[in-house]
Amino acid sequence: MSEPHKPAGTLASVMHEERMFPPPRDFSSRARIGSLEEYGRLYDAARKDPEAFWGERAAALPWTTPYERVLDWQPPHVRWFVGGRLNVSAACLDRHLAAGKGEKTALVWVGEPLGERRTLTYRELHAEVCRVAAGLRRLGIRPGEVVSIYMPMTPELVIAMLACARIGAVHSVIFGGFSSEAIADRNHDARAVAVITADGGWRRGAQLPLKKNVDVALEKSPTVKHVVVLRRTGQPVDMKPGRDVWWHDLVDGMPADTPPEAMDSEAPLFILYTSGSTGKPKGIQHTSAGYVLWAQTTAEWVFDLRDDDLFWCTADCGWITGHSYVTYGPLAAGASILIYEGAPNAPHEGRFWQIVEEERPTIFYTAPTAIRSFMKWGPEHLRGRDLSSLRLLGTVGEGINPEAWMWYHETIGGGRCPIVDTWWQTETGGIMMSPLPGCTPTKPGSCTLPLPGVVPEIVDAHGKPVPRGEGGWLVMTRPWPGMLRGVWGDEERFVDTYWSKVPGKYLAGDNARQDGDGYYWIMGRIDDVLNVAGHRLSTIEIESALVSHPTVAEAAAVGRPHEVKGEAVAVFVTLRGGEPGPALEETLRKHVRQQIGALAVPDDIHFAAALPKTRSGKIMRRLLRDIAAGRETVGDTTTLEDYTVLANLRGNDE
Ligand code: WT7
Repeated sequence: MSEPHKPAGTLASVMHEERMFPPPRDFSSRARIGSLEEYGRLYDAARKDPEAFWGERAAALPWTTPYERVLDWQPPHVRWFVGGRLNVSAACLDRHLAAGKGEKTALVWVGEPLGERRTLTYRELHAEVCRVAAGLRRLGIRPGEVVSIYMPMTPELVIAMLACARIGAVHSVIFGGFSSEAIADRNHDARAVAVITADGGWRRGAQLPLKKNVDVALEKSPTVKHVVVLRRTGQPVDMKPGRDVWWHDLVDGMPADTPPEAMDSEAPLFILYTSGSTGKPKGIQHTSAGYVLWAQTTAEWVFDLRDDDLFWCTADCGWITGHSYVTYGPLAAGASILIYEGAPNAPHEGRFWQIVEEERPTIFYTAPTAIRSFMKWGPEHLRGRDLSSLRLLGTVGEGINPEAWMWYHETIGGGRCPIVDTWWQTETGGIMMSPLPGCTPTKPGSCTLPLPGVVPEIVDAHGKPVPRGEGGWLVMTRPWPGMLRGVWGDEERFVDTYWSKVPGKYLAGDNARQDGDGYYWIMGRIDDVLNVAGHRLSTIEIESALVSHPTVAEAAAVGRPHEVKGEAVAVFVTLRGGEPGPALEETLRKHVRQQIGALAVPDDIHFAAALPKTRSGKIMRRLLRDIAAGRETVGDTTTLEDYTVLANLRGNDE
């Protein structure tokens, strides 16, 4: 695995992308950062003297104990704002009340069932967070203990995160699409003491059995002593006496002014599990002061937040985007956020545009996979919709293909809204590279330039910078406040994954290239990680799930290009029982859904007599990728142990 598997040449199509879109003049004239000169000044200042730069920005945080030092960098370990104490929920709520912004709308929520809507001012959000925080404290949850959150996209999900932050508990949000197996794994790995969930959630008109999934998970995760259950759908659930408590009973009679716990700058704020190149998901660990400063500052720069904005980030809080740009970034900035509970096509494929027309968000941030779905669903769902409230658009999760970029620009943005293509990762805590909408000319498909404080480099397998224009590994050479502090409970994996291949530098796991203007183009992952609909999936997790089925002997999962999801999951399996055919395909799909969740369900299942292997027994995924994509194999096959395997695999396909 020492060579990037996607060489520079694979980007041939975008290399010819020469369109450039300067920011509209009236946008620039009102923007926080309105010229490239200003960006350059900020960038240079952050690079020359990071301590002065970040110290100045941290001054507005609500410190209860001032820090002694801005930065302590002992690669791969970093501490920001050493010795300081503060509370992140106070940074998101109390300081805005103190500044007289209590009556400002903090959150507008739209439910999936038509007509359901709620709004909360900063004062109301603060009160709700305080009540839940007091309830959690009364259950005995202590600072530093881990609470899993498995909830639908409701205001209570945001409230639960902030309530944990308020009492110094570490939250671990588990996306509502994950299965009970996945919940159990995460509870177990994190030693979670409590789970906050709901009876169910709405998804395309159906009710997700959230509480039921938690019940099954808890049979395998004995560290959990308490379950808090929000009544959302009203579906029947079992409540286990002594363990389970209704949310409304928990908060009943609780005070609306619970004091926040003063936490160390470097106290963990949350864990978020993400897929890596080995089977076990990694608990990416973020801490308090640096993270919230990074989330807030990047939100202000990239989304150009103004007091009258309504910011709609369509991500679920189960992903890092929902942590940094639904909850912590915008709320720390005192912005108004819009959240929506359900699917973009429920009950109809124009639901997002109906919400834009009715709620009038000014900033819209979504994923390329969603944009490709909108394109596919067709223009009739947009016809007659008033999208004139929008002034800025963003994307995240994967590279955006230039066609989708142009469609987004013209059809959703009416040609007037800048697009920010934001590159970052669960590990980076916040946006790392992105246009600044008031000053950076954009090129469709490029995340353009690094933000102030971000110092990337593109290197070869020996850690040497590659010549401009060539592809290589993307690394970060300097620490930034929002960077991950570790992999929960696994220092070795932290060092190994991010810091060992290029010593002293953070290895992002992506290939990238810089063009003649210095713009960055992300070229995909260097490890065995798929990007399906903007979410990371590890091939090995899917393979392990398949192999755990009694009929499967061996399995290999690879990605193949998919017009909507970016990558689709294709699997090759050899059997030790059962009959290949549609019935077994269905069984295996169901099995993966049970083991991991719907997002990992294979799109294509190929039954094979054998898998192509090297003489040393390693599966040659490169060949499988070609077959899955219906491409001719052009690469080297001389290490293949048995040539007939390839021919047979191709034969199966026809
Ligand atoms: C991986 C991180 C960041 C929140 C959502 C995904 C890919 C992300 C872009 C972009 C090209 C992108 C990278 C990255 N990615 N944004 N704008 N252009 N690729 O978070 O699950 O941690 O995945 O997503 O491959 O490493 P994640």
